[in-house]
Amino acid sequence: MTNTLNTLLAKQANSGTPPWCAYVYDLPALAAHAQHMKQYLPRNCELYYAAKANPDVRLLETLAPHVDGFEAASAGELAHLNEQHFGKPLIFGGPGKTTDDLQQALHQKVACIHVESLTELKRLALLCAHTGQTQTIMLRMNITLEGIASSKLQMGGQATPFGLDPRDLGTALTLLRESPQLEFEGFHFHSMSHQLSVENHLKLITRYFEITRQWESQWHIRCKVINVGGGIGVNYQCVDEQFNWAKFCNGLDQLITQHDMQTRQIRFECGRYVSAFCGYYVMEVIDLKQSHGQWFAIGKGGTHHFRTPAAQSHNHPVWVHRNGQAGVVLNSTVNIVGQLCTPKDRLHQQLPVQELALGDYLVFTLAGAYAWNISHQNFLMHAAPETIYLD
Ligand SMILES: Cc1ncc(COP(=O)(O)O)c(C=O)c1O
Repeated sequence: MTNTLNTLLAKQANSGTPPWCAYVYDLPALAAHAQHMKQYLPRNCELYYAAKANPDVRLLETLAPHVDGFEAASAGELAHLNEQHFGKPLIFGGPGKTTDDLQQALHQKVACIHVESLTELKRLALLCAHTGQTQTIMLRMNITLEGIASSKLQMGGQATPFGLDPRDLGTALTLLRESPQLEFEGFHFHSMSHQLSVENHLKLITRYFEITRQWESQWHIRCKVINVGGGIGVNYQCVDEQFNWAKFCNGLDQLITQHDMQTRQIRFECGRYVSAFCGYYVMEVIDLKQSHGQWFAIGKGGTHHFRTPAAQSHNHPVWVHRNGQAGVVLNSTVNIVGQLCTPKDRLHQQLPVQELALGDYLVFTLAGAYAWNISHQNFLMHAAPETIYLD
C-alpha cells in the first residue's frame, strides 16, 4: 500500500492544485483483512459488519462478499444498507427505536431486531400483532462483568442505556410467550469496545456463554444464536501491536468446545477492527508557525473531517510525506492542528519531525473507522475532503 499511496501523493503534489486534503481508502487491503478475519473464525461463527464504523458505499461493497451480513444501528443506516441490495442479511440494533423505526425494519424484512428495552419489545409486539407479521428478535442484555477487566469504552456491566437489565428478563420472556409473532433467537451482548487484549476478550465471551447456559436452564429456553457484539480494538499508540485475531480465534474455538456451543451460531458484529486499517486521512501543511516556543503545523482540514483524535483524546499515528521544499522545521517537535478556531482542533501533539515544510503531506493512518462519519463536518463550513479509493 505505502508504494501506491506514495505514488498517489507524489502525483498530487506535482499537479499544482490548491492545498489539498483527502480520505484515501485501500479497498484491496480492506477485502484481504475481512477475508483474514472470516478465514480464522471457527466454523459456527459469523462475521457481520457494524456499518456505524464507516458506512461508505465503496467500503460496504468491498466487504459484502466477505461478511455474513451487516448491522444497522438506526433507521437511517438500515435504509442506506437496504438501498445497496447486497443480498446479505441485515440486523437492527441500537437504543431508542421508535415505532416508525420498528415499522421500517419490519417493512424491510430485517433478519433480526435486537430489542434493547421492555418498551421496544411492547412496541414491536403491538406492531406484529396488528399486521400479523412474524419477526425474529434477540434480547440485548446488560450483564454484570465482575472479574473482567474493563476496556476504554464500556456499554455494559454498569448503568448504561443499552440493553435490558437482567432483572427484566422474566418480564421480557413472558411478553415474548404472549407474542407468537415474535421469534426469540437468543441473547445479544455488546459490553465493551476498544478491546486490545485477546485474553480479556476470551474471558468476556466465556461470561456470555456461561450466562446464556444459566438462563437457558433457569427459563427453559434455547438460544440458536449468541450475538457477542463487536468491540475488538485498534491500537493507535503502538501500531505494530494490534489485536491478534488468529490467536483469539484459536482460543475461541477451544471455548466453543469447552462450553459445548458447537451447535449454536456465534455472531460477531465488528466495526472498528474491520475498517480502521484501510483508511488514511491526508492533510497538506498550509502554515507553519511558532507560538510561545512551540511549533504548530496547520493542515488543510482538521477535526471537522477527522474527529478520531479528538474523540479518543489521543495523538493519532501520522507520518510525513515530504514534497521537496527545504524544511522550515528541522529536528524539532510540532503540534499538528487543523483550520478550526478552537484549541481542541489538535490531531497530534509534539510530533518529532526531522524536516517539515509548507506543502508537505501529513498522512494519518488507521483512519477508516469512526473518522469522517463521526466528525462535525459543518462546523465553520469548510469544504469536505476529497475521497479517493485505491483498487
Ligand atoms: C451494539 C453494537 N454492536 C457493535 C458495535 C461495533 O463496535 P466496534 O466498532 O467496537 O467493533 C457497537 C459500537 O458501538 C455497538 O454499540
